[in-house]
Amino acid sequence: MAAEIAFNPARPLQNQKALVTGANSGIGEGCAIALGAAGADVVVNYISRPEDAERVVNLIRAGGSNAIAIEADVSNEAEVQAMFGEMLKSFGTIDILVNNAGLQQDAAFHEMTLAQWDLVIRVNLTGQFLCAREAAREFLRRGVVPAVSTAAGKIICISSVHEVIPWSGHVNYAASKGGIMQLMKSMAQELAPKKIRVNSIAPGAIKTPINRPAWDTPAALDALLTLIPDQRIGLPQDIARTAVWLASDQSDYITGATLFVDGGMTLYPGFATGG
Ligand code: BGC
Repeated sequence: MAAEIAFNPARPLQNQKALVTGANSGIGEGCAIALGAAGADVVVNYISRPEDAERVVNLIRAGGSNAIAIEADVSNEAEVQAMFGEMLKSFGTIDILVNNAGLQQDAAFHEMTLAQWDLVIRVNLTGQFLCAREAAREFLRRGVVPAVSTAAGKIICISSVHEVIPWSGHVNYAASKGGIMQLMKSMAQELAPKKIRVNSIAPGAIKTPINRPAWDTPAALDALLTLIPDQRIGLPQDIARTAVWLASDQSDYITGATLFVDGGMTLYPGFATGG
């Protein structure tokens, strides 16, 4: 009989291998550190500022899990394939993909350039497709290892409240997130019989560099809070905790779901007093 690996509730992702894209800042950094603390070995993907990726690697190692940084542009097929090749060589396999890398290129609709449109769609949407496809190939090859997880693999797509909330001045970003919703659900439907779970987390306003202008002055923060019934801006840990749970067997029967982690931003706060 194969040796049993004892389940440790404090480290529910023990013996699992995770890849987090865009993991050297913001939500990706928070997820990478939390997955490491939960027992997973973590690949910290980045495209710029290697020193920040190293900082995240060191934090994860200090918590007792292994971590390595790998540079790759998620919108580039060859770079994504090389990254997965390096991960499989170093860690042997992958159990958890957090598809996080994303960016904004904001412009009024009539002034938006094709380059701004293309960059956001390529990184936010095509990047999630390319990484999920490589992860799925390895999950299908390896199958379920019962001592590690009840699933053959878990894909967590970092979406946004803007997969459902339209957003003036950000049509490329909102379109990319709407696309992620159907990418995630269609993958979930196709891969469920193979015991691969695919879900999304849709963050609201989380205090990270991507939306600094929305929170870094008192006036901006006040305006932002009118959109958040919970009356506080989110923190990367709010998303990271959810990612750990979605990656763990605690959420074994959940696939094809989007969890909105947004302090109520999707509750139409304007209607609290109107309508
Ligand atoms: C965007 C942020 C924005 C938030 C709420 C996120 O997906 O990246 O810039 O603050 O949605 O509107």
